[in-house]
Amino acid sequence: MVHHGLKGVTCVETVISHIDGEKGKLIYRGYDAEQLALTSTFEETAFLILNGTFPKKEELKTFQNMIAPCQLPETVELLLRNLPDRLDDMAVLRTVISSFGEKTYTSRPTLEEAVRLIAAAPTIIAFRKRLLDGLEPIQPLADLGFVENYFYMLKNKRPTLAQKKALETYMILVMEHGMNASTFSARVTASTESDLVSALTSALGTMKGPLHGGAPSAVTKMLEDIQEKQHAENYLRNKLEKGERLMGFGHRVYQTHDPRAKALRMKAQEIAGGDSEIDLALYVEDTAIRLLQEYKPERKLYTNVEFYAAAVMKALDFDASLFTPTFSASRMVGWCAHVLEQANNNMIFRPSAKYIGDFVSFS
Ligand code: ACO
Repeated sequence: MVHHGLKGVTCVETVISHIDGEKGKLIYRGYDAEQLALTSTFEETAFLILNGTFPKKEELKTFQNMIAPCQLPETVELLLRNLPDRLDDMAVLRTVISSFGEKTYTSRPTLEEAVRLIAAAPTIIAFRKRLLDGLEPIQPLADLGFVENYFYMLKNKRPTLAQKKALETYMILVMEHGMNASTFSARVTASTESDLVSALTSALGTMKGPLHGGAPSAVTKMLEDIQEKQHAENYLRNKLEKGERLMGFGHRVYQTHDPRAKALRMKAQEIAGGDSEIDLALYVEDTAIRLLQEYKPERKLYTNVEFYAAAVMKALDFDASLFTPTFSASRMVGWCAHVLEQANNNMIFRPSAKYIGDFVSFS
């Protein structure tokens, strides 16, 4: 039997996260992720995902210093300044993270390496964005946390409390998500006893695809194309008639609403303050779900995290080019936790393929 896309195949045991696809629940290390997004900081959640416990006061202080977005090494800054403009932002993040692959990074990944790489991601993304916009990059500030520093380095201003909380909610909700395609890529690379940098590079390459982390830019395009509520039904129907997918809908695991989408919808509504774009997004969501039920009655297709990720990013005035890199800056935590877990109980991934080609005789 062939399991296309490894659908329904369980290939590891993990203590990092759990998804209840029927009930629409996401659990990080035993805790409800939606609750964590409401009550915890990025740093506390990252510590929990990487270490398995909440940090004690002193541990949190040390961790906050370790994970704070860092100034990049001079060679990395030079690399960033020399990369061509034609590279997309995910290609840049992948290339620059790859350049951290020094000889000191051994095949046995460590937590310290992981945190160092997580801390580098926001600076890389912001540095590149500023260069592309013709602006001088901004160095992180020592008194700002992970999320605020990221915003500050991009915009040259501190976020308001509402902006900080919206971005933080988003980044907590996408920090980890079981055996998704990019995490699987990271674990496959780690399973060969390759190093952490290589595993993260694999994950970043996988994340980029529009069926995975690349969807929010496609959602923005869809909402921009629709423009007004009265065009929504025709536009969506047209896509479904042509057999195309509606971006921001459907999920391999969730058979109901993605809990992350629910939480982000609230945040998007809060910061947009009754904005007409949110109004349109809500209308498009309802119409899309109704049409998906009509066209695919045997499937349970609902809104996924990407739909409202796009809305939150837009409300924060983040360019579409930043959507997938921002997602990745947070998911670095989940990838690292999985690579560390893989290394602790490793077996190389090596599934098999069923040959359906010809056997040709030379005679
Ligand atoms: N729009 C229309 N039809 C859909 C959609 C969609 N968004 N998603 C699934 N379907 C249909 C497929 O056409 C297929 O129909 P068929 O059996 O009649 O041919 C059926 O549902 C099953 O499709 P699969 O690809 O087998 O479903 P799977 O669970 O593997 O797909 C996926 C999950 C890739 C996310 C899919 O729902 C999709 O492509 N969604 C749109 C892209 C998207 O939003 N991606 C972000 C996901 S969240 C994340 O990765 C962080």
